[in-house]
Amino acid sequence: MSSADRDNVPAWAAHELGKVIVSPADVHRRVLELGAEITQDYRDHPPLLVGVLKGALTFMSDLMRAIELPLDVDFMAVSSYGAATKSSGVVRIVKDLDIDLTNRHVLVVEDIVDSGLTLNYLRKYLGSRKPLSLEVCALLFKEGEQRVEQTIRYTGFRIAPEFVVGYGLDVNERYRNLDGIYEFVGKP
Ligand code: IMP
Repeated sequence: MSSADRDNVPAWAAHELGKVIVSPADVHRRVLELGAEITQDYRDHPPLLVGVLKGALTFMSDLMRAIELPLDVDFMAVSSYGAATKSSGVVRIVKDLDIDLTNRHVLVVEDIVDSGLTLNYLRKYLGSRKPLSLEVCALLFKEGEQRVEQTIRYTGFRIAPEFVVGYGLDVNERYRNLDGIYEFVGKP
């Protein structure tokens, strides 16, 4: 890795971070683009955004303000990883939605799609609640890792299959508060 790759790694976390995967400026720019695209696509039927906690926390907060429509927001919390860095394939709902999905245009806001098992589960679960439409906006998509075919309407960035942290993504609850997205090279 060149020293330039590490120039923008925050000093307080540098001992556990590798390269910059997406810089804070690039995240910001892409979120605004996604917001503009969603604004255009949903102008006649404003969406209900469903954020998947906790990873989508930061993305949701920025994305919803980049969409210029009178939208609604709700959250679910699911747990699929526990403390490890590989999917167990078992998804558990920790917090369910408060809003009824009947006759709503639902846009699921996800932090990252890795194996795709979490999204697969959520699609079936939310689909059974009879929304008018169900689409997904994922900030990150790990190339070549999916165990189930995924159709994702909006994707922020396609990244290599490395474990990353920052901008809401954690390892054992740490590093969610980084502004950019970084390779994690510490011990999980
Ligand atoms: P999947 O079910 O394998 O697609 O995993 C989805 C969930 O695992 C995401 O919503 C994240 O919470 C978590 N996850 C997957 N890859 C990473 C990563 O590189 N860093 C942090 N969390 C991740």
